[in-house]
Amino acid sequence: MKDRACQTKESTGRAPGETAGRRRRYGVAPFTPLQPIPTPMSAKANAPRPLTARRSGPLTGTVRVPGDKSISHRALMFGALALGETRIEGLLEGEDVLNTAAALRALGAEAEKGADGVWRTRGRGVGGLAEPSQVLDMGNSGTAARLLMGLLSTHPFTSFMTGDASLVKRPMARVTTPLERMGASFVLRSAGRLPGAIVGTDRPVPIEYRLPVASAQVKSAILLAGLNTPGRTTVIETEPTRDHTERMLRHFGIDVRVEEAEGGALAASVVGHGELTARDVVVPADPSSAAFPAVAALIRPDSAVTLTGVGLNPRRAGVYETLREMGADIAFTNAREEGGEPLADLVVRGSALKGVEVPPERAPSMIDEYPVLCAAAACADGPTVMRGLAELRVKESDRLAMMAAGLEACGVRLEMGEDWLVVHGTGRPPKGGATVATAMDHRIAMSFLVLGLATEEPVKVDDGSFIDTSFPGFTALMNGLGAEIGEA
Ligand code: S3P
Repeated sequence: MKDRACQTKESTGRAPGETAGRRRRYGVAPFTPLQPIPTPMSAKANAPRPLTARRSGPLTGTVRVPGDKSISHRALMFGALALGETRIEGLLEGEDVLNTAAALRALGAEAEKGADGVWRTRGRGVGGLAEPSQVLDMGNSGTAARLLMGLLSTHPFTSFMTGDASLVKRPMARVTTPLERMGASFVLRSAGRLPGAIVGTDRPVPIEYRLPVASAQVKSAILLAGLNTPGRTTVIETEPTRDHTERMLRHFGIDVRVEEAEGGALAASVVGHGELTARDVVVPADPSSAAFPAVAALIRPDSAVTLTGVGLNPRRAGVYETLREMGADIAFTNAREEGGEPLADLVVRGSALKGVEVPPERAPSMIDEYPVLCAAAACADGPTVMRGLAELRVKESDRLAMMAAGLEACGVRLEMGEDWLVVHGTGRPPKGGATVATAMDHRIAMSFLVLGLATEEPVKVDDGSFIDTSFPGFTALMNGLGAEIGEA
């Protein structure tokens, strides 16, 4: 006779989980019920929150945008591995990062905010996370999902993971392929999408892996898997991506080696089974978030906005280089370093922008900023040519398609290909007067609200609720500078 726990509806006449009463009706002997699949930690359903931006006067003032999202995820994760107490100042309290904190608690680590506003984690040591009894719900965040997949792939237990309607459309094979080579296995929906199960290995093998796409998430997932793998795990990248993982692992005492590899590539590697030592982390203001008030100030004449403590890791700051090439008046002052990351204050003034050709090799250093760059390009004089944008199609939405559709609805002339976009600016703000679809994408929503501060007619976004994933307080911060953004 078959193992009872493996009996199916065909063999028993009932679905898994049906009650004993029901079973008796079918006249089948009682049996040990199947373990129910754990339910997700949170089942957040956003009520759509339309927002409208109207042409505003000059933006003025000094503000600090919330903490860097990439660094916040990593600070919590590394704190959850480190021995001792890690204090994290300036953590982004956006929904994406709060989901990471909840997932780490479900994995047995401590991660809480203190009464003093400082977050504290108490870690479990490398390889010390515990099997979760809940589904890890990573919400809207590809970074959280992919980095945790890396970590969990070399913990010898099974975890279940899901995400919101945007995250479950995003490709995961880019991480599962190398992690399977290290010994983990995954059960994902067809085409490698979440929800799915991560079956960690107890016999991980180190790999040397050349990234087929420029992705810091994939690089980080492999390096994190390598922390609990004997020997040296190496990731080779031909296009350098953000290096927050490498910098922060060093800050926690791990010897991360970065060397030049063949053909000018970079090889980042770790030797497994070292321990992370708890360290304080100060999270800089997010350069991706700062780009929204920065572009808003640039496209409103006579604006003067200071953005304090912005992270300016050279692998993240490409948008500021591009904006300066467009004629933007942006000064960097008070340059300093915190926890291995460079930062500065930005002074941004209203500027007459001109279209430029953005070098495609700069894309990894500004990949999240193309939507807001499009808002700047729509107000600039002449064409702005953007190439090498294939990755934009697999972000929180297909950002290339969403930007093109929204810009056209606002009266902007453009041309688009599979991985390129040309925005034809006229030197004057476009007409606007459209309702733009945002497809659960925080950066699409914020980019069109920024554009709407300059357009002749207001711009409405169909749902601003996802802005909270990365930039809680966006509307209040912008309006405090003089923007006119309100509930639609
Ligand atoms: C991130 C890497 C980038 C970026 C994302 C955050 C990270 O994604 O778009 O917002 O924190 O490592 P990819 O690795 O997919 O390029």
